Amino acid sequence: MSRQMILVTTLEELKAGLALLEHPLGFVPTMGYLHDGHVSLARRAREECKAVAVSIFVNPTQFGPNEDLAKYPRDLERDLRLLEEADVDLVWTPTPEDMYPQGYQTWVDVAEVSLPLEGAQRPGHFRGVTTVVTKLFNAVQPTRAYFGQKDAQQAAVIRRMTRDLNFPVEILVCPIVREPDGLAMSSRNVYLSPEQRRAAPVLHRSLLAAQAAYQNGERGAEKLRQTMKSILDAEPLAQVQYVSCADSETLQELDHVTGKTLLSMAVFFGKTRLIDNVLLS
Ligand SMILES: Nc1ncnc2c1ncn2[C@@H]1O[C@H](COP(=O)(O)OP(=O)(O)OP(=O)(O)O)[C@@H](O)[C@H]1O
Ligand SMILES: [Mg+2]
Repeated sequence: MSRQMILVTTLEELKAGLALLEHPLGFVPTMGYLHDGHVSLARRAREECKAVAVSIFVNPTQFGPNEDLAKYPRDLERDLRLLEEADVDLVWTPTPEDMYPQGYQTWVDVAEVSLPLEGAQRPGHFRGVTTVVTKLFNAVQPTRAYFGQKDAQQAAVIRRMTRDLNFPVEILVCPIVREPDGLAMSSRNVYLSPEQRRAAPVLHRSLLAAQAAYQNGERGAEKLRQTMKSILDAEPLAQVQYVSCADSETLQELDHVTGKTLLSMAVFFGKTRLIDNVLLS
């Protein structure tokens, strides 16, 4: 029998709640509207730590002015039920006013690895992410923090930040959880129309095709990008924003694949932007 999950909002409540938890403490930052991807992170933390804390915060500073902050999906009741089932000990739901009070002016910026790919398409996005993750880490002081490989560049940026700033936290990156047809789970998948939803597994298919080419000996990065691009272009509902074959740590585009490599992409279905990736090694 597990005890009651602790639900806190203010920093003071958080502090009191954390005082009741054992260490090592595992921490999973989320924006809510949870799915099996999030739950997989909480379960992994459960296996590896004595206590598990999850934050739910739709962080305004990581959304661009023309992005979906206002309509970002929310369902706190359902989220809490899922987290209780995953045996989470504490859930923190800070408010934007508490996180960014009047006069807020301090930012954390990871210079290089934040720039390409998602950073190029979403200016300021990673500054918002690294700033909020810093604030969350400082407030929760976890032993380990769990992130998803679905946001591969985010994981690389946070690893870099953690090393560069000596954060005393271990970063764990967990595999992408997919729907049965291969679509990577994402809170934003609910935006898809039925037709778009049927077409969306093309991201994963294009990644698998490039991965297969790699496994058959292809090492030309442009060839691998073209393999993904041509499959995506064959889907009329998909609008490719970028396809990438890059070093998995620096995210710099490659000419030839030698070391650890990330194939990744961002694709629009109407106004909905989906990302996906696979690691080659
Ligand atoms: N399909 C997935 N598999 C594994 N981890 C995931 C998956 N989707 C998201 N995560 C991870 O969950 C954490 C919280 O992500 P977030 O709350 O932004 O969810 P999301 O599904 O990515 O939502 P959105 O697509 O709207 O950004 C991040 O570390 C993210 O990488
Ligand atoms: Mg996300």
